[in-house]
Formats: sequence, structure tokens, C-alpha cells
Amino acid sequence: MDYYSNTTVWITGASSGIGEALVLRYAQLGASVILSSRNIDKLNAVAEKCRNIPTVNGSAAEFFVIPVDMSSESSITEAWEKVKSLNRKIDILINNAGISQRALTRDASIDIDRKVMDLNYFGPVFLTKLVLPHMLDNKKGHIVAISSIVGKFGFPLRSAYSASKHALKGFFESLDAEEYQNNIRVTLVYPGFITTNISVNAVTADGTASGEMDNNQKGGMSPETCAKKIVRGIEKEKHELLVGKKELLLVHIRRFLPALYYKMARKVSPT
Ligand SMILES: NC(=O)c1ccc[n+]([C@@H]2O[C@H](COP(=O)([O-])OP(=O)(O)OC[C@H]3O[C@@H](n4cnc5c(N)ncnc54)[C@H](OP(=O)(O)O)[C@@H]3O)[C@@H](O)[C@H]2O)c1
Repeated sequence: MDYYSNTTVWITGASSGIGEALVLRYAQLGASVILSSRNIDKLNAVAEKCRNIPTVNGSAAEFFVIPVDMSSESSITEAWEKVKSLNRKIDILINNAGISQRALTRDASIDIDRKVMDLNYFGPVFLTKLVLPHMLDNKKGHIVAISSIVGKFGFPLRSAYSASKHALKGFFESLDAEEYQNNIRVTLVYPGFITTNISVNAVTADGTASGEMDNNQKGGMSPETCAKKIVRGIEKEKHELLVGKKELLLVHIRRFLPALYYKMARKVSPT
């Protein structure tokens, strides 16, 4: 358990869903956490919950709220300056903030693709490039990217989202190969359907949020179970981690039975 009491984790998208559950899980284990996203009130509420959690090892964990808009380079730079002023070693960076999409390619303008790529791909890449030299100086660090099962295959209504999550795989797998010998670990996480507001917040063709909870998310894995599996996977230094229920089968079908995947992708309910 000392592993956690001496660990500082920086989590983006910490105000809700998987990010919030990850913050709470690390708090239970005794780690200190930096919570980032845009909504300061929600972040403060999550941090307050953490301060009231009895930790398993009685560690003196601390919780810091540092706001960031992950689609803005200047906001990310500002957040990094604030994190540096905490004078803490960042052991684990979890690039979790993200937005999904519920729009057909033919209806969605290129602005939607740019919005999704800016937040889901360029945001984590920009932040990682800022934090990596700090981890290299410390001779140790773990960088996590939350992708999606649609980072393994295409899926209707999610062309930009799926593309952004595929792009994360290319970037972070390359980084893994480049920096492994320098004691930098990289974990790519591929969640299936997790019961969060991801579909409610998903961008539609006119740029507004969908406002609807998909049946897939309603019947999904709880964010708490998902967070436990992710934290365990990070501890085990997994290069990649699939987290979900029976929908994970599609990953294996895409790989081993591609013809069946093409048929299923046309027919399964995308919501
Ligand atoms: N739930 C699923 O089924 C599922 C499946 C596969 C992958 N994922 C991935 O899991 C990650 C977390 O999603 P979730 O399911 O927990 O959904 P969520 O509840 O909608 O959480 C999204 C988080 O991202 C933050 N965020 C959104 N835009 C942001 C921005 N511009 N700058 C900074 N933070 C921003 C939100 O906080 P603020 O509003 O406070 O900024 C929120 O904390 C995402 O990357 C998503 O793609 C989810």
C-alpha cells in the first residue's frame, strides 16, 4: 500500500463518470490526486468527497483542483504551470477527458471532426508532451490514455470519435516503444459500455449535446468497477486493457472474424 501513499496521480475529466470514479478509487488507496476538467464546482465536490474517505493505509493524501479546458493549448499550458507550482512529482498522468459523438458522417460538418479531435486527441498529446520531460527527469512515470473499444474498430454515428480514439492508439503505442527503456510506462485503456453521461454529452450534427442516455450505457459496467479494473491494470503496468462486458467480444470478432464484424457493425444498435 506504500506504493499508493507515495503516489501523485493527475486525472483529466475528473468531474464525472470514469474520471470521478478513478479519483475516488485512488483516494481510497491513499494516493494524492490532481483533479482537472472545466467545471470547478464539480471538481471541488469530488475533491471534498475524497477528503472524507477513510483510506486503507491512513496516508496523508492531498487533493488539488486545477481547472483545464483540454481543447485549448493555452489552458493546458496554464494548468501545467499550476501543477508544477505544487512542487510534486507526477507519478501517473491519466488522459481521460473526452467527448463522444452521435451523428452520421454525412450530417456532421468538418467542425465536428475538429472539435472531437482537438479534445480527444490533440489535448492528451499536448499535455503528454508537457509532462513527459518532467517524468524523464524523475527517471520514472506512467502515462495512461483512455481510448474506447471504438478505438479498435469503426462504429456508426461515431466516425470522428472512433478516429480520435484510433489516433490515440498510434501515438501512445509509439511513445511506449520509445520510452519503455527510460522507465516510462504507457497504458492504453479501451472501455466498452460504461454507465456514465458520455452519450448524454455526446456532440450531435448541429454541435449541441445529444441529451440522451443510450441503452448501451444504461446496461453498461458501473464506473466504480471500471475504475477498479483500470487502477489494477495500471499497477500491473499493462500496455493495454479492455474493460467492459459482453460488448468486448466485438474487439475479438473484428480481429479474428472480420467478415462477421462488417455485418454486425451495419446491424447492431449504435445507441
Ligand atoms: N462511458 C463509456 O461508455 C465510455 C466508453 C469508452 C470510452 N470512454 C471514454 O472515457 C472517458 C471519460 O468519459 P465518461 O464516460 O466518464 O464521460 P463523462 O461522464 O461525460 O465525462 C467526461 C469528462 O470529460 C470532461 N471534459 C469534457 N470536455 C472537456 C474539456 N474541453 N476540457 C476538459 N475536460 C473536459 C468532463 O468534465 P467538464 O465538463 O467538467 O469539463 C468530464 O469530467 C472519455 O475519454 C470517453 O471517450 C467512455
